[in-house]
Amino acid sequence: MTKLKWGMIGGGEGSQIGPAHRLGALADGLFDLTAGALDHRPEQGRDYALRLGVAADRAYGDWREMLAGEKNREDRIDLVTIATPNSTHFEITKAFLEAGINVLCEKPMTMTVEEGEEIVRVAEATGKICAVNYCYSAYPMVRQARAMVRSGEIGKVRLIVTNFSHGHHGDATDADNPRVRWRYDPAMAGVSGQFADCGIHALHMASFISNDEVENLSADFASTIPSRQLEDDAMVNFRMSGGTVGRLWTSSVAIGRQHGFDIQVFGETGGLRWTSEQPNQLIYTPVGGRTQIIEKGEAGLHEDAQRLSRVAIAHPEGFPLAVANIYCDLADAIRGETRDSLPRAVDGLRSMAAVHTAVASAKANGAWMDARPSIFR
Ligand code: NAI
Repeated sequence: MTKLKWGMIGGGEGSQIGPAHRLGALADGLFDLTAGALDHRPEQGRDYALRLGVAADRAYGDWREMLAGEKNREDRIDLVTIATPNSTHFEITKAFLEAGINVLCEKPMTMTVEEGEEIVRVAEATGKICAVNYCYSAYPMVRQARAMVRSGEIGKVRLIVTNFSHGHHGDATDADNPRVRWRYDPAMAGVSGQFADCGIHALHMASFISNDEVENLSADFASTIPSRQLEDDAMVNFRMSGGTVGRLWTSSVAIGRQHGFDIQVFGETGGLRWTSEQPNQLIYTPVGGRTQIIEKGEAGLHEDAQRLSRVAIAHPEGFPLAVANIYCDLADAIRGETRDSLPRAVDGLRSMAAVHTAVASAKANGAWMDARPSIFR
């Protein structure tokens, strides 16, 4: 099968998420890195692209040059990944979709709900794929949890408790480090800091596993480092349309917590627990029964979990492989196979509606508010 041609914007040398995309996209030989505008500094971006093996005429200085260079080529890229800071996602995503190129956009997809609605509209109008990198949803044991809920193995879901809380921005003396600061700068990050950065992964996961959507929420935001304009800690209570109760804590000042993403799903006949620091195991307790550990790669998993278990049982499987699973589903989708597990622009839009509702709720002392985008009300 011919490889799909892949381009990347952002994710330059030394960036946080760039290496995971390169490992993920290239892991299965499905994509070739064909074009790139990898850095906000044109020369560094070009130079790095050349070192990664991109041809000189496709190592671009910025994304506009890349769009102009790619859109009329016969051998243009099949997919572009956008791994730049949040404030740039909307215009780059929109421009590439309009040029007829499929997009994988980093989260949060946009800065505002209106921009999110526009991306959903443009993706529909152009018929192009706009995926959003909720990569944790592609861990095999998250897929197992989702399949177990869908096949009724824990009954109707009553309650979801999820945390995405780490301590890596907890040092007030490091708050001005440029890699940290943009995440709390409204001009770069948008209306929300930690909730838009990490909380939306947890909120997406709640919907992804339960097959249900957030309807209302109430939020309490805090900037525990007072120089920050945006929150570094948030508690968000939510209710889902099927009646499920949700609790979400997200923080970047929880010193001692490393990655700190976990989710517990409590149903009428059983409970599930998954944690990103031990991603190979899913903990399952049937009502009245013993707690069991379900291992990635073991016999009898649901099909989606089996398909995405890449490494033999008991061998570690990590974050880049979850990103690789997103690229596998994308390659299938580009080649015309339906993958309803691939997070799409509507998921990105739901997150933006939740972020803006949480900001409004936090300002209104935690008042409960409708968190659905208007197109789903
Ligand atoms: P970073 O600050 O480490 O790297 C950003 C990269 O983008 C740098 O190489 C920079 O030179 C480049 N860049 C900035 N503006 C550009 C432009 N206009 N054109 C081309 N390149 C440009 O940021 P990080 O942490 O890698 O985050 C990037 C995005 O990825 C953010 O939206 C963030 O929310 C998201 N992210 C997602 C994660 C996930 O789990 N899905 C994890 C970490 C980040």
